[in-house]
Amino acid sequence: MRAERTTVNDAELIRLEHHSTEVGDLVVGSQNTGIGFEPKRAYYLYDIPARVERGGHAHKELQQVIVALAGALDVVLFDGEHERLVRLNQPDEGLRLPSGLWRELKGFSGGTICLVLASSQYDEGDYIREQEEFLNWKQGKQ
Ligand code: TYD
Repeated sequence: MRAERTTVNDAELIRLEHHSTEVGDLVVGSQNTGIGFEPKRAYYLYDIPARVERGGHAHKELQQVIVALAGALDVVLFDGEHERLVRLNQPDEGLRLPSGLWRELKGFSGGTICLVLASSQYDEGDYIREQEEFLNWKQGKQ
């Protein structure tokens, strides 16, 4: 699907491959365990000050899966028309984001560690950081 057409309903909560053993739990994130793309990059957020809001941007191509490894956060999605809020608080649950959605991360609980698996390397040119530009892009005006 073209990124300009994706909607908040195209984001999907997925259950990651989870191995529970007597010596602890282990979760796998890979293309053939439901992520839907081959992860090329992983990064994580931690030491997040209270009440902070991050991530006000969209990606033209990049796909991501966001996981609350510890703690909890809200992911607020916007497709130019509709908004959708997803609370993440399970280390074996991922929010699969297609390209072309505006996202904000907020409502972090103390000690939250947020993992992001990404479909390609960091590329500032893939970001849309102005919401007006995002709206124009979604409407095919550029
Ligand atoms: P940014 O994507 O703006 O974070 P958020 O949207 O979650 O607030 O990234 C913050 C900073 O880190 C910014 O200076 C770019 C840099 N960065 C990298 O250099 N490589 C990466 O893979 C990422 C995700 C960010």
